[in-house]
Amino acid sequence: MTEQNFIPKPFAKTVENGSYTWSSPSNIALVKYWGKKEDQIPENPSISFTLNNCKTTTTLSFVKKKTTNDFSFDVFLDGEKKDDFKPKIATFFKRIEIYLPFLKDYHFKIETSNTFPHSSGIASSASGMSALALCLMSVEKEFLEDISEDYFNQKASFLARLGSGSACRSIEGDLIVWGTHKEINKSSNLFGIKYPFSVHENFKHYQDTILLVDKGEKQVSSTVGHNLMHKHPFAERRFEQAHENMSKLISIFETGDLDAFIKIVESEALTLHAMMMTSMPYFILMKPNTLEIINKIWTYRAQTNSKICFTLDAGANVHVLYPENEKESVVEFIKNELVAFCQNEHYISDQIGFGANQIQL
Ligand code: PMV
Repeated sequence: MTEQNFIPKPFAKTVENGSYTWSSPSNIALVKYWGKKEDQIPENPSISFTLNNCKTTTTLSFVKKKTTNDFSFDVFLDGEKKDDFKPKIATFFKRIEIYLPFLKDYHFKIETSNTFPHSSGIASSASGMSALALCLMSVEKEFLEDISEDYFNQKASFLARLGSGSACRSIEGDLIVWGTHKEINKSSNLFGIKYPFSVHENFKHYQDTILLVDKGEKQVSSTVGHNLMHKHPFAERRFEQAHENMSKLISIFETGDLDAFIKIVESEALTLHAMMMTSMPYFILMKPNTLEIINKIWTYRAQTNSKICFTLDAGANVHVLYPENEKESVVEFIKNELVAFCQNEHYISDQIGFGANQIQL
């Protein structure tokens, strides 16, 4: 598969107007994507759990315009016009125009809402860009009725990647790989694929409680963050390490070895932050309460033999991961000992979605 496969043949029919709605989830990476080449090509493979509750729902309405000289669209979040979202979407449209040649023919209205608060510090770009990519694929399907479900999803992932890299892991399935890896046959830098090997029962319905330590705007945008990996002193070794960690996860998923899983996941989270701390300029995205939570998790694990662990995004919030069979005890621990470190005691309970992720409404 190359980019060329996603350039459609000339359309035989035309459509005046229409509207599509898709709901698409966020995801949390276990092996992190951090660093990219031109055209949103990742420097290393990544793998993520798809979340079940953190979703974006987007309605894309379109009306044919008289002129076709430029993009024309409006964006609304929860019914409110959001002109500050427009530059990101304009960049996205520019990048994908060659793959969706009808984009300048229509005026689009993009109405979006999230199941999680916009100001929660939870990145909405994965769920947002994947929902928009799915809507755009529904439009393309109007022109090319015979496209298969596989092609539809693959191209949706391909397009979502061009909006926000991690968004390509939010299209299909519950455990997703993006980026070529020698042991994963069909893995691609161009789109996410469903993890193709066996996954032990231990990982079914894995739980993720997101502790909102800092709900502010991101201190470092991911575009800036990825760019910091250019000329980073540890970049090459880091990219190799991601490949190694992917290999290790393949056998961990097979055997259900939760202790080994914890080591990889926590090390990946801390490595992501270590990359930011050792870039130029350097950043510390964790807050004191992030560290308090991590230490509490480590103490609880040592005392109880729990398989609880944490991972982090490019921010201060903590994703607490644990197997479903520990749900009752860990939720009790979170409420008693961790919630106090969250901003306004705010947290979100989620779990890995097995099936009910991406829905056309
Ligand atoms: O999709 P982006 O460009 O916002 O990058 C996201 C990167 C991390 O969330 C930090 C890691 C990942 O793999 O999701």
